[in-house]
Amino acid sequence: MRKKRIHPWPVRLCHWVNLLVMIGMVMSGWGIYNADPIFNFTFPQNATLGGWLGGNIGWHLAVMWVLAANGLFYLLWGLFSGHFRQRFFPFTPASVWHDLVSALRFRLSHKSNQYNAVQKLMYVGVLLLGLLLVISGLSIWKPVQFSGLVYLMGGFTVARYVHFFAMSGIMLFVVVHVVMVLLVPKTLPGMITGGNAATKNAGESADD
Ligand code: HEM
Repeated sequence: MRKKRIHPWPVRLCHWVNLLVMIGMVMSGWGIYNADPIFNFTFPQNATLGGWLGGNIGWHLAVMWVLAANGLFYLLWGLFSGHFRQRFFPFTPASVWHDLVSALRFRLSHKSNQYNAVQKLMYVGVLLLGLLLVISGLSIWKPVQFSGLVYLMGGFTVARYVHFFAMSGIMLFVVVHVVMVLLVPKTLPGMITGGNAATKNAGESADD
């Protein structure tokens, strides 16, 4: 018999590396935004990373490579291990609605190794937002080399707005996500240590 983890090690590794990466990207990104805001506000200086515009850009482009490596590993592993298929699908508008109403009535039980339909939608949604963030980011970073992406975005200026709104969407996700973890704190240890979902016979495919 072998222990099956609630969250296999690649998920845990990528999840927490991604959290650090997001903090670096968002804080340095806010610094870059402050130098040429597209809205009527700027972010507080102490919420930015890098000290000055050159430093902000330096951090943003350095952490970008960690984001790329971590994101690519997670996507490839998730696709080829069957993790995305098993954990994120299927969900339908009806199942999302059902689970949302149950959750708001505090009647949604949490199964350790199975996400509810609202979680599935949110996780798929945040991955798509991440993809949009990367595509719009590449368009702003190298508009000549990635002119096809700039065209797809609807132009350089639109790409900046898309980049900003994708960042905002991810920030909104994080707020809801962390509130959910605070409401169901027993989910946290599994995301750190892996936890034990069940036991399985040796020879059966294990997640880790
Ligand atoms: C940028 C920030 C974050 C993003 C993009 C993010 C994204 C995700 C995603 C996509 C999953 C599903 C992973 C999978 O199964 O492949 C997940 C699960 C989880 N995340 Fe996050 N997360 C973030 C921050 C956090 C933070 C700050 C915490 C803790 C306070 C947290 C705690 C958890 C937990 C406990 C789960 C497992 C939930 C369960 O078992 O029901 N996450 N997160």
